[in-house]
Amino acid sequence: MHGAWVLRSAEIVVDGTPGVLVLKGEDLSAAYPGMVRYTLEFRRGDTVLYTYLTNTYEYPPANPQTAESVALTAFHRLRQELPGRPDTFVLHPPEPVVRPLPPHRPEAAVIIQGSPRLYGNSAILAGWAADACRDAGMRCETLYPAEMRIEPCTGCFRCYNAGRCVIPDDMPAIDRALAEAGLVIVCTPVYTETVPAALKVVIDRCQAYRAGRVLAGGETGRQAGILCAVAGRKGAENFVCVSRVVGSFFRFIGAEMLGEVRVDGADAVSDIRATAGREAGVRAELRALIARAGR
Ligand SMILES: Cc1cc2nc3c(=O)[nH]c(=O)nc-3n(C[C@H](O)[C@H](O)[C@H](O)COP(=O)(O)O)c2cc1C
Repeated sequence: MHGAWVLRSAEIVVDGTPGVLVLKGEDLSAAYPGMVRYTLEFRRGDTVLYTYLTNTYEYPPANPQTAESVALTAFHRLRQELPGRPDTFVLHPPEPVVRPLPPHRPEAAVIIQGSPRLYGNSAILAGWAADACRDAGMRCETLYPAEMRIEPCTGCFRCYNAGRCVIPDDMPAIDRALAEAGLVIVCTPVYTETVPAALKVVIDRCQAYRAGRVLAGGETGRQAGILCAVAGRKGAENFVCVSRVVGSFFRFIGAEMLGEVRVDGADAVSDIRATAGREAGVRAELRALIARAGR
């Protein structure tokens, strides 16, 4: 999918057996402008014994190093030192290769409930959305980012090395659910015009999810997205920013936005179920949108 070229290659003998040390570059500009990933490998035949990965976005402007200078230094150092002391470097299994991704399952839905209030209006919306998914014959899982341990993205861009985030927290559960789901529903309140912090953290951390998809390449089929948003105040203007943020999230992960369900004026009633006819209306909107996900 992306162009690759060899920068350096050398045959070296390690433990009495020859192998090849190769440094290659790969164009990842499909992910970000000018992004290049460098892969340094020591291999014997098809067996990779050592891998070192770095990419250009790991080095911010004021860092005196560049990905290429680091990769070339690593190449020269390994070329000199690997034959004499392989155990210093070849200590652990090499980085697993990025595996091809399974296709999205049309019958699987994931709901991301973005409010920290477990018993709030977004949770009520999430319940109606889950009912609509099940009525449409889908399997549905609901995730609560505010209840999970998910750290903010640090912008290290190391996810574009091997398609994984280096932060050890609960994010892989969300990545797995997104990878499987044919339908992603984000239920969120409006917080200061945008989404609550825990949901924003999840959205930013989807860098690694996207990196995995860019690096694996291939087709994973259709994924659809629906936004369900609730605002305390009345009026369409309260949803402008949330629509943009969640729309951008769907585009970023490759999901097609099917539409939005908006509930405004929630603060005047406290419980959105208190407004006559609202529940039936929202459930009908959800049914119609979810029916489009299956097409
Ligand atoms: C920190 C905070 C910021 C909010 N900012 C907005 C806002 O900018 N616009 C708005 O219409 N409502 C705002 N609200 C009101 C919520 O959107 C509203 O109370 C909603 O029903 C909360 O949903 P939940 O019960 O799912 O948490 C805010 C609420 C909180 C707690």
